[in-house]
Amino acid sequence: MNLALSSKPQSKFLIIPVFAKEKIPAVVRAIDKNLQLPALAIADFKNKLGAAQIVYTQDLRIMILGLGERKNFTPASWRSAIFSLSSRLQGVEADSCSLIIPSSIPERPDALVELTGFALTHSSYQFNEYKKDKKLSKLGQIDIVVKNKSKKLEKALTNGITIGLAANESRSLANHPGNHATPTTLANHALALAKKYKFSCTVLEPKEIEKEKMGLLMGVSRGSDEPSRFIVLEYGPKKKPAVALVGKGLTFDSGGISIKPSERMEEMKYDMCGGADVLGIFQAAAELNLPIHLVGIIPSTENLISGKATKPGDILVSKSGVTVEIINTDAEGRLILGDAIDYVKAHFDPRLIIDYATLTGAVLVALGDEYTGFFSNTKKYDRLFAQASTRTAEKFWPLPLPVEYEDHIKSSVAEIRNVGERGLAGATAGGMFLKHFVGETDWIHLDIAGTAWTMRPKSYTGIGATAWGVYLTVDFLRNLKITN
Ligand code: BES
Ligand code: MG
Ligand code: ZN
Repeated sequence: MNLALSSKPQSKFLIIPVFAKEKIPAVVRAIDKNLQLPALAIADFKNKLGAAQIVYTQDLRIMILGLGERKNFTPASWRSAIFSLSSRLQGVEADSCSLIIPSSIPERPDALVELTGFALTHSSYQFNEYKKDKKLSKLGQIDIVVKNKSKKLEKALTNGITIGLAANESRSLANHPGNHATPTTLANHALALAKKYKFSCTVLEPKEIEKEKMGLLMGVSRGSDEPSRFIVLEYGPKKKPAVALVGKGLTFDSGGISIKPSERMEEMKYDMCGGADVLGIFQAAAELNLPIHLVGIIPSTENLISGKATKPGDILVSKSGVTVEIINTDAEGRLILGDAIDYVKAHFDPRLIIDYATLTGAVLVALGDEYTGFFSNTKKYDRLFAQASTRTAEKFWPLPLPVEYEDHIKSSVAEIRNVGERGLAGATAGGMFLKHFVGETDWIHLDIAGTAWTMRPKSYTGIGATAWGVYLTVDFLRNLKITN
């Protein structure tokens, strides 16, 4: 689908977003003085966010798109409206349409245009690689009609599309099931990206992982015949202090010996969404030429069962020498991330670490499936992160890492154990475990277990992987100032 900026509608199919209780004819007349919409159609239209109704005039097809009440409008409303629009357009026989951006929308025009490019790209994504009957949309062209076309707005649209495509690529990677997306395919994807965008990528194989003494990652991968991979990406000016992005890359999580119930276990093919996020962010950062030194780390393995698998009660030793008692082999994400954090600290001494992990079911209990769990050991970046989150409509909610709960992960036989206290603050326990490895380095932990994928369509995305955090992080990074 082609998206282009335009100062006049190029198509006879107009999409007109309208706020509730505001006059539709006024918007329409701004486009064409003589245009009149059938009064009944307007009267019947119930303006809720995302509601859409098509009306016909003499020679135009017009879709009225509800934005809900003006006072409630946020970038998230716009993403929802665009997602409904995309869904409605699937069933429409048209090869082009013109989306009118009302100049009265309370948002900076360039931000709105970028978001539109992103949201249209994200919304039109379909994962149909395993289907013969691919329901392809007829729509080839959408003009985005703005009042004052400019170079700045053109750039904003291209950026939005670029970030959307990077997110979609990340989604595809995550949507492939465990037998197709293995640690090896994940690593190959990373190598291909690095080659295309000319940044560096090193992949450690089991022997090198052993040489690096990453005993936690080795412990998780013991039960699987699929060899693990430890992916290291590096982009941008190496003289500047690095920002490190660490992504959980569990290509399938059965739970191991502490096996999960079979109901919904298939969803555990998505347990590498954090890793896919990191790859998506690297792709976007490289495309946009962000002047930042980025390191990406993706420990990748399966968590399976065999005669070799790690058992409850086993004690593993991390890269930095921490002894860890395994109480539950299903708490594997924190293990591989512990080694990844040790590795990135030892090799890159980053200024800030951000990790992306489908870490705990408990975060779903606490926050549901619309908010990522946000943890940090610093307040330095909170505002910038929150601003990015509002702009990109990827929501999060802060959860604590209190000293009072440090005891929750104490072990009687090793230094720490891999679960917290039964029934208490499970998402926090995951965070506390990672904090043990992070130490004093500034750090943000994103528990994306509730937001990384969805099995039912949400107001702003279809089913499957969502690439939660790709847009947010790109927006965060381009506004971040790191000095030597
Ligand atoms: N990948 C899961 C977390 C998860 C569960 C994500 C459900 C999305 C939906 C993770 O590896 C896990 O199994 N965590 C355990 C930890 C527990 C044993 C302390 C969990 O949440 O049950
Ligand atoms: Mg698990
Ligand atoms: Zn997992």
